[in-house]
Amino acid sequence: AWTEAISADEDDLCIRTAAAELAQGLTRLTGRTPSCRTQAPGSASSTAAGSAASISAAASASAGRSVRLGTFEGSADVRESFSEAERASVAEEGFRIRADERSLVIAGTTGKGVLYGAFHFLRLVQTGTPLDGLDVLHNPANGLRMIDQWDNIDGSIERGYAGRSIFYRDNEITEDMTRIRDYARLLASVGLNAIAINNVNVHRLETMFLTEAYLPRIARIADEFRAFGVRLFLSVNFAAPFEIGGLPTADPLDEGVQAWWRATARAVYDGIPDFGGFLVKADSEFRPGPFTYGRDHADGANMLADALAPHGGIVIWRCFVYNCKQDWRDRKTDRARAAYDHFVPLDGRFRDNVMLQIKNGPMDFQVREPVSPLFGAIPDTNVAIEFQVTQEYTGQQRHLCYLVPQWKEALDFDTHARGEGSEVKRIADGSLFDRKLGGFAAVSNIGDDANWTGHPLAQANLYGYGRLAWDTDLSSEAIAEEWVKLTYGSDERVVETIRGMLMDSWPIYESYNAPLGIGWMVKPNHHFGPDVDGYEYSMWGTYHFADNRGIGVDRTVRSGTGYAGQYRQPNAGRFESLADTPDELVLFFHHVPYAHVLHSGKTVIQHIYDAHFEGVEGAEALLAKWDSLAGLIGEADHAAARSRLQEQIRHAEEWRDVINTYFLRKSGITDLHNRTIY
Ligand code: GCU
Repeated sequence: AWTEAISADEDDLCIRTAAAELAQGLTRLTGRTPSCRTQAPGSASSTAAGSAASISAAASASAGRSVRLGTFEGSADVRESFSEAERASVAEEGFRIRADERSLVIAGTTGKGVLYGAFHFLRLVQTGTPLDGLDVLHNPANGLRMIDQWDNIDGSIERGYAGRSIFYRDNEITEDMTRIRDYARLLASVGLNAIAINNVNVHRLETMFLTEAYLPRIARIADEFRAFGVRLFLSVNFAAPFEIGGLPTADPLDEGVQAWWRATARAVYDGIPDFGGFLVKADSEFRPGPFTYGRDHADGANMLADALAPHGGIVIWRCFVYNCKQDWRDRKTDRARAAYDHFVPLDGRFRDNVMLQIKNGPMDFQVREPVSPLFGAIPDTNVAIEFQVTQEYTGQQRHLCYLVPQWKEALDFDTHARGEGSEVKRIADGSLFDRKLGGFAAVSNIGDDANWTGHPLAQANLYGYGRLAWDTDLSSEAIAEEWVKLTYGSDERVVETIRGMLMDSWPIYESYNAPLGIGWMVKPNHHFGPDVDGYEYSMWGTYHFADNRGIGVDRTVRSGTGYAGQYRQPNAGRFESLADTPDELVLFFHHVPYAHVLHSGKTVIQHIYDAHFEGVEGAEALLAKWDSLAGLIGEADHAAARSRLQEQIRHAEEWRDVINTYFLRKSGITDLHNRTIY
């Protein structure tokens, strides 16, 4: 069923975008260009109502369907297509789509909702979903659905693996909006609604983004995102009043500092009326913060929140705070404890327009970590969960690693904070504790590479992140399948093969990486490639404590760092007990001898050997599967992924040999199967 006419008779930016996207998308998908009527900014809606009627007439004279877009409030036509109860069921950014033989209505409470509806409709068309009798309602699970760029003004991207920044170049904010507009479209098409456009590590020039020297160009970027319903945020430097404001201090309780932030916020909102707010990394990894002045995180966050509140802005304050100058000899200090220890005492002290952004795990985006125990521990505080779409520790977009299953595990983890059924997803979205704000944030994986993500299949992670932020109940498989169909078409072999590759990829990557939840074992700084002791004698708090008898970190209350006790029961008890800790996390919670027998029936050492041999075989299988699709995938894309899959095998072999050799030498225990270990 193709579409003859699109009409939208409201003066609304996102609705105009929705209509244009529909027209463009349908033209591409069906080869026919529908007529498209929208209302010009500032014109009265009565004329448009007339034109809508004439469009319906034109549509019924032809074989095509007409599509009407609009909000319940702004369009009588749209309103009358739904009962009052149906209208009431649509949340602020949700939508309903209803079709009969002749027409289709995409309706929302707001223009943003209509825009998401339009993209959803395109998704249905593209995946070949039958449209007759279509009647769907979708509301987003999370209010905040944010992406964080770790881009620097010099054009580099911290932990970026897909080229240079699309926002900056040679110490200038770009004026070329082409990629930025496409990115805005891409984000909106998966339901994302917020973006921070600069690195959380705010350097010298980026500190000045808050000044007249940069604001006009930032406002220009905000315009592009606004058309797609995406609010713009900036990462800010807590010491800005001191570093660029000419003040003697950045103390959050100093009146001059408070006034400086108020004036700064006002100036930002003058240029960007719907500015989202500030994202802050404070007192972490050498970033300045309130500690310098003997103040705490609540003092710091609230001061910024008060400056933003009159304009409707929020502060997103990161909980990635720990001592990064630890002495490796000290076995009492435990980095995993840090976020909880810092923020639990502050629960209830943060303003309503502050959100604490908590990384999914207590350490730092490793291939395997338990869920951060901070989820569920601060019921009187707004929180957001932070994921890392960019594959810093998960193969840097040279290895295939579909991360949606990892995120789902975190989201489905039951914290028991309010008894059974207190999953992390219900804490992140704010519902469990009835919080005003909640949501998702994630570090982006895109750059200016033509395919956005370097590894073509890494796009599935960005796509999946957006879809999951919208609907946490979607399965990893369903998201993978959608992405494959939208990207490579609906050929069954293609869909099944790539979906399978995606689903296998995280377990494969994990099996040749650091074993059993211990993490790291990577080359310092750039974090690519194996180096078992790379961080063992460093200040970063990331140790495995392997010796000739055993390996792992004792995080029990009984004999270790006490970290396991930060969870609620029954999780605390489960992690405290070696017998009850799941295999994949055993070395995260316990120091065990190499001969310790896992639930799988294998010893730890034999598990290490087996997993690393299997991991390489898994990587080889990925390439074989991809090769079976030659001719069914565009040549350039096939070749690009192919060379990365080949590299992944070579690199997996390196991981296997380094890890296995290290543990053979440490333990002196030989492989039961006598395979080659060096
Ligand atoms: C990781 C990453 C850093 C980043 C930090 C953060 O440690 O390696 O590059 O700055 O996370 O989340 O702030």
